Amino acid sequence: CSSMLMGLWGYFWLIAMSSGTALVYDEEMTRYKLLWVDPACKIEVPERLTVSHTALQEEGLAERCVSVPIRQATDAEILLAHSVEYLEAVKKTPHMSLDELRTFTQQYGDVYFHPNIYHCAKLAIGATLQLVDSVMTGKVRNGMALVRPPGHHSQRSAANGFCVFNNVAIAAHYAKKQYDIKRVLIVDWDVHHGQGVQFAFEDDPSVLYFSWHRYEHQGFWPNLRESDYDSVGKEKGAGFNINVPWNKVGMENSDYLSVFFHVLLPIAYEFSPDLVFVCAGFDSAIGDPEGHMCATPDIFAHLTHLLKSLAGGKLCAVLEGGYNLTSLAQSVCQTVQTLLGDPAPQTSELNGPCESALESIQCVRSAHKPYWAFAPPVSEPSTKRCKLAEKEEGVQAEGSQKEEGDGQKAEEEEVVWMKPPSRLAPPVHTEVALPADLEVPDRCDRVRSSLMYVMFYLTFNAQHLLCTVYYYSQCVCVCVPPQGCSDVAGLMQAVLCLLLPLAYEYDPGLVLLVRGPGSGVGKAAWAQITSLLQGLAQGHTLALLQVRGTPRDILNYDDFFLLYFFHASLLGDPAPSLGPLGAPLPEDMEAMERLRQRLQTHWGLLQNAGEQMIKASKETYSVTQMDNNILENQNG
Ligand SMILES: *[C@@H]1O[C@H](CO)[C@@H](O)[C@H](O)[C@H]1NC(C)=O
Ligand SMILES: [Zn+2]
Repeated sequence: CSSMLMGLWGYFWLIAMSSGTALVYDEEMTRYKLLWVDPACKIEVPERLTVSHTALQEEGLAERCVSVPIRQATDAEILLAHSVEYLEAVKKTPHMSLDELRTFTQQYGDVYFHPNIYHCAKLAIGATLQLVDSVMTGKVRNGMALVRPPGHHSQRSAANGFCVFNNVAIAAHYAKKQYDIKRVLIVDWDVHHGQGVQFAFEDDPSVLYFSWHRYEHQGFWPNLRESDYDSVGKEKGAGFNINVPWNKVGMENSDYLSVFFHVLLPIAYEFSPDLVFVCAGFDSAIGDPEGHMCATPDIFAHLTHLLKSLAGGKLCAVLEGGYNLTSLAQSVCQTVQTLLGDPAPQTSELNGPCESALESIQCVRSAHKPYWAFAPPVSEPSTKRCKLAEKEEGVQAEGSQKEEGDGQKAEEEEVVWMKPPSRLAPPVHTEVALPADLEVPDRCDRVRSSLMYVMFYLTFNAQHLLCTVYYYSQCVCVCVPPQGCSDVAGLMQAVLCLLLPLAYEYDPGLVLLVRGPGSGVGKAAWAQITSLLQGLAQGHTLALLQVRGTPRDILNYDDFFLLYFFHASLLGDPAPSLGPLGAPLPEDMEAMERLRQRLQTHWGLLQNAGEQMIKASKETYSVTQMDNNILENQNG
């Protein structure tokens, strides 16, 4: 029997997912720049690429990546997202005089042309497509393309915002065509709205576009009405366009994570993409002259980690903006290091999102309520409240404009932040304690009891351990009916909207995962949970798998598969996709919502609505005896 087991292990290693991280870069894309004076464009400099690449080399990350050569995109590829007229017009730019280039540029917004930019733009697309090919053929698991010019503002027949061709939009079309992919997720964490990507897929339900962006009630570039939360997509694509407007600057790590937990991840898991693109702009990081946000570079390690469990790990990050060379380079390193699988950095001092972020979250959730399985709205009618919040904010915004002088002064002040500490991967990634000879029951007993001892010991010694376990079991028990636990949709909702926010705010030193016998939670779901939780505690995870019956029963196929998935996800293999999740059972949603309501007073990251809504909801959801019973049962 043990040899059969060994054989199975070998089999699984053979079919294990592809590994490795691609880095697609070529210095050639630095060979164009602004040739005249234009304050709006002067920040888009060739050094953006060189500092990013140099930082990757200095951190020893570049050499750990699979280096993938770039190529030029073909006309046919460009035409996947652009008109013939526009392509033909751009094709003439290499032969234009300086004056002609300036005139040509003037028909578009916030962009500049150069005799070599057409060449570089074709390389930027080609680099992105090379990345797609590497990931889709299994040459690598994931990767990043460092490209210039960026792409997400570019439209069918227009250059815009430093972008000539829409690299990611073309790549999404290409991936669908070339690899017969059904669903693509594009996560745009750049601080600007990628309106070009939105326009490209507005009526297309096969491409889910998410963007958060500095908006300030349409006061920030590109000042479009279409960038607001209520642009949810059109016709068949309704619900497949998610805009999260930031109506204030200074958003922090907690605000970014909140949007992932309460908006993006629940929808992304329900959607279940086959491939994930990140429009990886780092002007959303601290110190950026465009974004004026306060999220630190290490947050991108977590954002990347949280997306890595989707689409079986197939993630392509493509550089967009990022104009503070220091924070840009640090953020690129954090992203690539996470793609490589190193443990995520500790996240300290997380708390609830700010009021403005909460209002945005609430508005987006209610705008998307008709399309996705969000928990019941805390108050009705929620859209009315969004409009109300909007109005009040609008008044405030007008007021603040008068104090522009002050604002400018603040802008001149230098923002300082710490360089993220280096993230060292331990020499041994994962250890498994298994009985050496499964035929000997007492040996197995001995191992199990010593693990129990370890667990007991840690409970008293790791300051931040016990509660994680406690809340962990609470979340699982609340959302999943005890007799069955077959509802993966409910389980994942609970993990994403309750467990993760709580655990991130709690900031444990160790995550202990216990899977008791007969938990009823499927293998793929366990793998997902294991993967997601590894963003915590610098990846320090202890997984205990308890098997029913005699130790001999570990040879039971089901447990063996479970063990395999556990082991694989602890090793950093992407968890298998759960497939599109339907809506959780209404009673589970309600129970979860009640629990969230109750816990959010202590755990800010659990909040998903502004103060007004919380007040209103207190009346709707009061603690009932039934809840207390549920809690008591769970504690047992
Ligand atoms: C980037 O941030 C650092 C630290 O605040 C600052 O010294 C530098 O001037 C900033 N650069 C840009 C382009 O804003
Ligand atoms: Zn940007």
